Amino acid sequence: MKIAVLKETQAGETRVAAMPDSVKKITALGHEMVIASGAGAASSTPDAQFEAAGAKIAADNAAAIAGADLVFKVRRPTEAEISAIRPGAGLAALLEPYAAEDLVKRFADAKVAALAMELVPRISRAQSMDALSSQANLAGYRAVIEAAELYGRAFPMMMTAAGTVAAAKTFIMGVGVAGLQAIATARRLGGVVSATDVRPATKEQVASLGAKFIAVEDEEFKQAETAGGYAKQMSAEYQAKQAALIAEHIAKQDIVITTALIPGRPAPVLVTEAMVQSMKPGSVIIDLAVAQGGNCPLSKPDQLVDAGGVKIMGFTNLPARLPTDSSSLYAKNLLALLPLLTDKDTKAFAPAWDDEIIKGAMLTKDGAVIHPNFAPAAAA
Ligand code: NAI
Repeated sequence: MKIAVLKETQAGETRVAAMPDSVKKITALGHEMVIASGAGAASSTPDAQFEAAGAKIAADNAAAIAGADLVFKVRRPTEAEISAIRPGAGLAALLEPYAAEDLVKRFADAKVAALAMELVPRISRAQSMDALSSQANLAGYRAVIEAAELYGRAFPMMMTAAGTVAAAKTFIMGVGVAGLQAIATARRLGGVVSATDVRPATKEQVASLGAKFIAVEDEEFKQAETAGGYAKQMSAEYQAKQAALIAEHIAKQDIVITTALIPGRPAPVLVTEAMVQSMKPGSVIIDLAVAQGGNCPLSKPDQLVDAGGVKIMGFTNLPARLPTDSSSLYAKNLLALLPLLTDKDTKAFAPAWDDEIIKGAMLTKDGAVIHPNFAPAAAA
């Protein structure tokens, strides 16, 4: 089949859904890959590298989509791109379907089989296809690097002839994939690291990375994980107890990195305005949840906020600040998914509709919304 890879058009999006390595492997499987010219420019991958790997270069996105059986993207397609996709063809991208029921319906109307990469179930067989993890891992690393850049002091303790430089006290809130990598990175830089999460399973993970775990560990905390391994919405009572503990801890921190998310809901507020005021001038808060409303009410998307000398930076797209690695991992996620979208013998586009992974991530089929979270029956 013909697989098109488009040039991303969203502001600030530097990633691309294929890399020369994935192109080589996909063409070796017998597929044709067409890459829109310039698609890899922002991730340091010129057209010539894609060509050398076996891809054809199309003049633009429209030319790449023409006749494609499957479209690979990082972010949602534009209306023009959706209209250009041939009915019956597939699309795989980070579609952010939760905030966009109209978009999901639009895919159905266009008869595009749209697969939301963020909905790939987190089962062990799908680990290599898990784009949320591959991107969150890099975001967690980069959050610490950004914090180090904004912080007017050093991360590691240094004993010099002119005096001692104190280690940066770093607090990671939310210990999912991004949080774990942030802990590891802050530790490598020499910070004194603590972390919190509402999921009890994280306590051991935090300790194993050499950081201190901070949380109210009551009965509710012990039950605070869904079967899928995600955080539950906590009671108001728990949130108040946790906030009191956190307030005391945060006042002593130099760097706070927040990564707390609850799938399909606004991000929980973890760092209140009063907590920000309690921090020392020069402290840094990095809010990775800003695109979902933020873990700190003062953070603004992609804008540095000065709150009484505390620097607050909310990043909506940290993986885009490491475009070469994030593209490379994302391209591998798509490569790993490809067998589930292909007929082994004919090499045609043929999603394995009954497979758990496809069922979990595919939004639309034959003009209808099929995903249980978005199908009209679920809304009713
Ligand atoms: P996420 O991005 O949805 O959320 C980040 C973290 O914020 C989570 O650890 C969550 O518990 C935490 N959080 C939510 N509300 C909070 C609050 N009020 N206070 C403090 N922390 C709060 O999480 P992510 O990174 O997507 O991981 C979610 C789960 O999926 C984890 O259990 C992870 O280990 C698991 N996972 C499993 C995989 C697999 O088995 N294939 C792959 C990747 C992740």
